[in-house]
Amino acid sequence: MSVSVDKTGENSQERMEQSILGPRRAMSDPAISVRNVCVSFSGRSILRNVSFDIPKGNTLAIVGLSGVGKSTTLRCLVGLQRPDKGEIYIDGQNILEMDEKRFDELRKRIGMVFQMPALFDSLTIGENVAFGLREHTRLPEQEIQRIVAEKLAIVDLQGMAHLYPNQLSGGMQKRASLARTIATDPDVILYDEPTTGLDPILSMVINELICDLQRRLQATSVVITHDIRGALLVGHKIAMLHQGEFVWMGTPEEFRTTDDPFITQFREGNVQGPIRVQ
Ligand SMILES: Nc1ncnc2c1ncn2[C@@H]1O[C@H](COP(=O)(O)OP(=O)(O)O)[C@@H](O)[C@H]1O
Ligand SMILES: [Mg+2]
Repeated sequence: MSVSVDKTGENSQERMEQSILGPRRAMSDPAISVRNVCVSFSGRSILRNVSFDIPKGNTLAIVGLSGVGKSTTLRCLVGLQRPDKGEIYIDGQNILEMDEKRFDELRKRIGMVFQMPALFDSLTIGENVAFGLREHTRLPEQEIQRIVAEKLAIVDLQGMAHLYPNQLSGGMQKRASLARTIATDPDVILYDEPTTGLDPILSMVINELICDLQRRLQATSVVITHDIRGALLVGHKIAMLHQGEFVWMGTPEEFRTTDDPFITQFREGNVQGPIRVQ
């Protein structure tokens, strides 16, 4: 009897730990895992032993001044930059050891959103969104049109498929480029400064859209941003890159409250502190 009571106790304890450990258990199986990545250009060290894990469906926001290596980090994840050293795992596969064919297959599951909308000016918004689908799939035209309409509705551009990029405002172009990125339902979405150059209100519209996409697609994401409010909103974790190294990583709550000198300087925009503006 006492044994079974103990067991029940253990089980409920175990169950409790399982639910509490849910996200932590996911941490042990990250969708993206970067291990000791080093990159240098002409002997100049740009990334130094960069390591991070992002569990499936989570978003890592990376903040830091210009020139610290944020875009280089993203470029490594999509194979546009080969590290000198280190390992990069996406869904457990080391992308640096993959042959080209396998990497091309994986690459189709990664969506990238650049600072500039990067739409094709000579194509309509609808054709822009359909571009990846035509390139990577053999879906019938009717299905492509259905997906285009669905993705444009997600970014609140329904009925605009027939317009050309130059007929849209900057914010609408940004949303159209998000629709293009999500057309193929990527498992990984990498955003390189998606709100730079936008006013604070439009930035929040884009940040909220990123959160909405997170919920809908359950994609694993990295968002590079200068925008602290954005980082706090979209990131499950926030990391700070400084001179090629992660000097801090924590939750939005920890970001708000930490007295880490790097984060306090960045958060408060102080000129004095460990971050030296060149
Ligand atoms: N292909 C390259 N060749 C030489 N230097 C580069 C190259 N790409 C980036 N850099 C340098 O690496 C540093 C980090 O660049 P980047 O990753 O673009 O920074 P961030 O995105 O944080 O502004 C910068 O000093 C930049 O000039
Ligand atoms: Mg950059």
